[in-house]
Amino acid sequence: MTNILAISSSPRRNGNSELALRSFCLAAEEKGISVELIRLQELRLEPCRGCELCAKDGRCVVKDKMQPLYEKVAAVEGLVLATPIYFGSLSAQLKIFMDRFQCWWQAKYRLKKPFVLLEEGKAGYLISTGALQRADFADNAVAIAKVFFHSINYNYGGSLSLQGLDHKGEIDDDPAALKSAYAAGKEFVNGYLL
Ligand SMILES: Cc1cc2nc3c(=O)[nH]c(=O)nc-3n(C[C@H](O)[C@H](O)[C@H](O)COP(=O)(O)O)c2cc1C
Repeated sequence: MTNILAISSSPRRNGNSELALRSFCLAAEEKGISVELIRLQELRLEPCRGCELCAKDGRCVVKDKMQPLYEKVAAVEGLVLATPIYFGSLSAQLKIFMDRFQCWWQAKYRLKKPFVLLEEGKAGYLISTGALQRADFADNAVAIAKVFFHSINYNYGGSLSLQGLDHKGEIDDDPAALKSAYAAGKEFVNGYLL
């Protein structure tokens, strides 16, 4: 069974946020926790249509590659999201992924039949990378992630925002950044998954 679903949401394969995500997940794998990494860019997900058809049964009528992701998020214990900071927010790919959980919002708040119960103790984490030396530029992304995890009944397990990373793969020249991602993974696993 997969215990962590790792979502990479940069359009750049092996970009900074994805490499930070991999370091984070390495700490989990070393503890015997299995990880599945998914790149949203490869899935070409449709945005939420706001059609409200999910109000009927909590299911999304858009039959694209989001469908298996609902099952995975319901099954795993940890959900780790990685994003580049784009104009002080999440990548569009990650926002689309989050918005597509509107059906879970309906299931929780309108139908009172959530797909995940808070008591199950599942936990979510956000990793972001940005070019500027402005930690506060990640604040919006963190705030959005908190709302998202709350809405899908995942406990908010924390966030790591890394700055000063611009070009693709630049994080490989920043051992301190990779180390902090690894340390964050260790802390997350110890706090929520073991
Ligand atoms: C459209 C766009 C918007 C960006 N906006 C910001 C920003 O608001 N703040 C910042 O620090 N970096 C910004 N950046 C830089 C990226 O966040 C940075 O290069 C990041 O490390 C990329 O991660 P990735 O390699 O995983 O894609 C932006 C980059 C792009 C392409």
